[in-house]
Amino acid sequence: MAIHDILKMGDPRLLRVAQAVTAFDTPQLHDLVRDMQETMAHAHGAGLAAPQIGVDLQVVIFGSGQVNPRYPDAPPIPVTVLINPTLTALDPLESEDWEGCLSVPGLRAVVPRWQRIRYQGMDAHGLVIDRVAEGFHARVVQHECDHLIGKLYPMRVRDFSRFGYTDVLFPGISALEDD
Ligand code: NI
Repeated sequence: MAIHDILKMGDPRLLRVAQAVTAFDTPQLHDLVRDMQETMAHAHGAGLAAPQIGVDLQVVIFGSGQVNPRYPDAPPIPVTVLINPTLTALDPLESEDWEGCLSVPGLRAVVPRWQRIRYQGMDAHGLVIDRVAEGFHARVVQHECDHLIGKLYPMRVRDFSRFGYTDVLFPGISALEDD
């Protein structure tokens, strides 16, 4: 197991469309997931995608099973390993909220996301995941899955007047987690 360096915006490896995983329940896949979990915990992230540690595979992890202090009213997001995901918007409604990213340290922006989605994929054992999510849960899934198609949240920003440095936007709350 190992904590990996997290690639930062500007690294071309963050712009690739990731490859699908073809073999499940292998030692290599379980090692990758463990490394991602350690790396995310070390960085206090709410989620992490394999491309962020330079691995060109469709693997994301998210959720802590606990209420996120930034979204105290949102129900906890289950601890999830999601592989080869597909997302479907279930409603044309979008919502706006602040996002950060471990690959874009020190910055925050308001990002529009689908309010309600269905996400499908597999876990590391090859078991099917098929869920409906809304609000913060749906936002985190969309943010992480965007990493698998080479999209970082600044590419989704529409109103750049709400894009800035975390310590300026939220003075005194510098310990906020990044996504
Ligand atoms: Ni991110």
